[in-house]
Amino acid sequence: MGTGTSPELVSAVSNAGGLGALGCHGLRPEQVDERTASIRRQTNKPFGRDFLLFDVREDSFAAALELRPAVMQFAWARPEQDLRAYFERSHQAGCLVTYMAGNVPEAIRAVKAGADVIIAQGTEGGGHVGWMASMPLTPMVVDCRRAHSGAGGRWICRRTRPRRRAGARRRRHPAGNALPRHRRVALHQNFRQAIVDSDGHDTQLSEIPDIASGLVWPGAMIRSRRNRFIQRWAGREWALRRDQAAALEGLNSARKSGDIEEGSLATGQDTGLIRDIPPAGEVVTRIAEEAEEILRKKLPALVAGN
Ligand SMILES: Cc1cc2nc3c(=O)[nH]c(=O)nc-3n(C[C@H](O)[C@H](O)[C@H](O)COP(=O)(O)O)c2cc1C
Repeated sequence: MGTGTSPELVSAVSNAGGLGALGCHGLRPEQVDERTASIRRQTNKPFGRDFLLFDVREDSFAAALELRPAVMQFAWARPEQDLRAYFERSHQAGCLVTYMAGNVPEAIRAVKAGADVIIAQGTEGGGHVGWMASMPLTPMVVDCRRAHSGAGGRWICRRTRPRRRAGARRRRHPAGNALPRHRRVALHQNFRQAIVDSDGHDTQLSEIPDIASGLVWPGAMIRSRRNRFIQRWAGREWALRRDQAAALEGLNSARKSGDIEEGSLATGQDTGLIRDIPPAGEVVTRIAEEAEEILRKKLPALVAGN
């Protein structure tokens, strides 16, 4: 989660059996070092370091490799970037490589470049996403991996979930939406509460927060809460470009003061499944328990026709 994450959050996820990820976007090399040392003091379990390739800093990337992490995680490359070079350097440092893809051509590109893991990211997720929903995207990515992988593409996972089936328990999952509520994330309490209060129908895919921040993400839109800030600029992006500096100032101060109408809250449709604020480790434990229940009990019962 970019700069919203912390060593405490990463180690809590890894200690619970998940794969914690340190978002390295925008970090200086010494910050990568410090945060890694802090995570290692808190867990001896594997964790990853996540780089957004379109804006990667070579010095920070090199610093991360020197620390020989278990996993290097990538997303959002520019079309002309050489994925193979990043993946090969990671493999030489002894890391597994994951790549998050929001469409099939991106997944094929990463498989061909030697990624070990492809994460299919659905458009219903929070933050920067593509246009494909995870329900069709995931099996399509599985098929493309079968067709295109040689040695690479070992597992496929999903970053978002399909809708809850009637009668199923509420699910939590360790991705963008479920974890910003955690107390170790640097996010004002009002924003956490807005996620808990949401029924999932109040998000919008737009360029608005990125135009305000002055950042161009290749091929991405951002899903965020449809609040007053978004509604003010929707359809008036031309005016937002003109007023960008003032809009950014407004966003920064709203983030600090916890103004959920004037701040930008990157959040997905699965906020409709989030009803409480458990510690991050418990989020991971719940997911594992629910998956086990489905695999051990519900699926066999379904197959047996009970
Ligand atoms: C606040 C926020 C920050 C994010 N930052 C990153 C990031 O730094 N790197 C990344 O690969 N994905 C990032 N994502 C995308 C998530 O990895 C994930 O794809 C998305 O949130 C979908 O999962 P969800 O349905 O749980 O939100 C971010 C998402 C959110 C909401």
